[in-house]
Amino acid sequence: MSNPVLQANGLLKTYTSGPQSVTVWKDVSFDLNAGETLAIVGSSGSGKTTLLNVLGGLDTVDAGEVVIGGQSIQGLNETQRTLLRNQQLGFVYQFHHLLPEFTALENVMMPLLLGGLSRKQSEARALECLSALGMAERGQHKPAELSGGERQRVAIARALVNRPKLVLMDEPTGNLDQQTAAQVESLMLELIRTSDTAFVLVTHDEALASRMDRCMRLKDQTLILDASEVS
Ligand SMILES: Nc1ncnc2c1ncn2[C@@H]1O[C@H](COP(=O)(O)OP(=O)(O)OP(=O)(O)O)[C@@H](O)[C@H]1O
Ligand SMILES: [Mg+2]
Repeated sequence: MSNPVLQANGLLKTYTSGPQSVTVWKDVSFDLNAGETLAIVGSSGSGKTTLLNVLGGLDTVDAGEVVIGGQSIQGLNETQRTLLRNQQLGFVYQFHHLLPEFTALENVMMPLLLGGLSRKQSEARALECLSALGMAERGQHKPAELSGGERQRVAIARALVNRPKLVLMDEPTGNLDQQTAAQVESLMLELIRTSDTAFVLVTHDEALASRMDRCMRLKDQTLILDASEVS
């Protein structure tokens, strides 16, 4: 029997500006099983970031529910949602969102420290994760001292360090030059291949999307299975 890590059931999102209500997307439904990978593609403004934020409990919906590990996140209060995010989710944002005043190593240690792990254990595990991304030598550098690709690799390490069941990635290589993006992507794909984590990857890059188990497209205000996947 399948055991979904993530379920989206009939999600609807609108934005209201003055008297106008704008639907970003509606009827968004899908399941993601343990270890499965899903790409979400769609043109700029189609609502990809909004959807990822909703899936991660960072934004609200007007209808429907998001279920993570069998638990509806709409039913949780803010503290419970924060706890769930810390324990079960990893995020890689469109822009790296690293804490500027902390070193790369400290940034990666943060989810572990917040989860109650000792400083020593957090440091050891964060270093291990940075090494897997070829960043072991740069642990003492602050984000401003790193290149764009290096920052995104630190952000990926931070998302994975907790060994979450689910990682949400919002165009993690979208702001990198082609060569750097290709390097980060091959590291990322290797990590995806060797982990039993489920991934949702938002991307503009059709080639990258095709490397995921499934690809869905935000189009005409809803999320559909990508036509190129149907044979
Ligand atoms: N806080 C907000 N208030 C009102 N409208 C918003 C808000 N945030 C996003 N939108 C609108 O919702 C739509 C979807 O935005 P979103 O950022 O999710 O798109 P996206 O697919 O991630 O785009 P991109 O590919 O450029 O990152 C856009 O039309 C945007 O203007
Ligand atoms: Mg976006």
